[in-house]
Amino acid sequence: MDVLEAVKNRRSIRQFKTDTVPESLIREILAAAVWAPSWGNTQPWEIVVVTGDKLEEFKKANKKLQMDGAAPQPDTVMPTTWPETIKQRYNDVGKKVLTSLNIARGDKEARQSYYSDMHTLFGAPAMLLYCLDHGIAREYGMLDIGAIIQTTCLLAYEKGLGACILSATVLYPQIAREIIQIPDSMAIIMGIALGYPVAQTPVNAFDRERAPLEEVTRWVK
Ligand SMILES: Cc1cc2nc3c(=O)[nH]c(=O)nc-3n(C[C@H](O)[C@H](O)[C@H](O)COP(=O)(O)O)c2cc1C
Repeated sequence: MDVLEAVKNRRSIRQFKTDTVPESLIREILAAAVWAPSWGNTQPWEIVVVTGDKLEEFKKANKKLQMDGAAPQPDTVMPTTWPETIKQRYNDVGKKVLTSLNIARGDKEARQSYYSDMHTLFGAPAMLLYCLDHGIAREYGMLDIGAIIQTTCLLAYEKGLGACILSATVLYPQIAREIIQIPDSMAIIMGIALGYPVAQTPVNAFDRERAPLEEVTRWVK
């Protein structure tokens, strides 16, 4: 597949089929994804592939904490304030997702159900958790994780799979520590939901937006 095609048409998938993804296919994707660049070729990532009963157990516990209103305690702290333009983009995609699902802004029940769905990975049959040793879970390690995550998502797209990078998988890392036995020495940086996308469903098909190039680039000669 053409790189440009993959880069432009990969999108976050928020409705998955229940079909399992063959382990051999996940292996093939990861074996290619590890060719992502990393600082000094350190390849600091540890990728935990979670499927089957363990994933179901994780989803249940993750959803419960979200529904109970538990305070998130991610290993990677999320920003709470943004410059206005950036915040606007965040709000815009949130609105697009909810509109595509016909969820009215004031409909608390439907929103809660959507968030539950997000915390159960939109039905995806596989989750990949990207971890770093706590000692290096800082900026440079994050750059490396970003590189391999996008590489994974592009490869998944090429294979007809869908993915969604999901903060919602790492808000309560204690669950992954308990259920998936990720040791305390590892920081759980980010997770992705992986599976076969439901095609032609509005939440997987709405028009996505990007800021014009002029807004995000500056040329100096
Ligand atoms: C670090 C990171 C965390 C994300 N977390 C979530 C999430 O918790 N829920 C969600 O629906 N999408 C999440 N996304 C997906 C973004 O919303 C999505 O990438 C963005 O809106 C651009 O859309 P696209 O991926 O379809 O091009 C996340 C993306 C990144 C890079």
